[in-house]
Amino acid sequence: SPTRLTIAIDGPAAAGKGTLSRALAVAFGLAHLDTGLIYRATGRRTLDGTAALEAAQTLTAEDLQADDLRTPEVARAASVVAAIPEVRAALVDFQRAFARRQGGAVLDGRDIGTVICPEAEVKFFVTASDAVRAERRFKELVEGGHDVTLDGVLSDLRERDARDSARASAPMVAAEDAVTLDTSDMDIAAAVQAAIRLVTEKTGHAPVQ
Ligand code: CDP
Ligand code: CDP
Repeated sequence: SPTRLTIAIDGPAAAGKGTLSRALAVAFGLAHLDTGLIYRATGRRTLDGTAALEAAQTLTAEDLQADDLRTPEVARAASVVAAIPEVRAALVDFQRAFARRQGGAVLDGRDIGTVICPEAEVKFFVTASDAVRAERRFKELVEGGHDVTLDGVLSDLRERDARDSARASAPMVAAEDAVTLDTSDMDIAAAVQAAIRLVTEKTGHAPVQ
């Protein structure tokens, strides 16, 4: 029978990484870690005046459950602290330990296939056009009651992607062995179906659900 399965999912903001990760975790019976949430929770604490490194070093489960982690302000703060090498270093062990869980795992973020789980059996780099990603995030934020404009969301995403790609420490980049999945013209069901097929082709793991 096939061995333990680790799936790495990276890509720019609002590409559909989380949605795809959750669906793959259900399909293959794996645990899922949204690593963006760790950076958001760290960034969130800096907005309260905590120094970035201290915030990362003393992060608690409670911090990860704060109810305002999905705001544009917190996303920007996350991307700022994420460029600090010492902050990233403080957060690596937890993520790697999660990836090595007995039952296998899906992790999504920016550096999963390159830094956190270079040994992952399957790696996806999920993308979509800037316009499509902005529409998706705009819709989500409006539904969440946030006062945003489509142009504002688009420029926030572009600024964050540029910072995440340009940083020296664990920049956002597709791993050499990652499969790029452009979901600009795919709904969630189509993206999930394509990803499940690829996992099965590459690893021999059949979906359990
Ligand atoms: O995790 P990431 O920021 O990459 O994206 P997400 O939170 O999974 O998806 C952002 C939004 O796009 C969500 O509202 C998804 O439902 C939506 N989405 C979509 O409409 N079509 C897709 N193929 C993937 C996601
Ligand atoms: O959902 P979305 O793609 O908008 O953002 P996220 O995945 O929650 O990540 C928020 C920010 O955390 C990103 O813009 C990155 O700066 C940072 N991040 C990172 O540097 N490395 C990761 N593995 C995950 C997130």
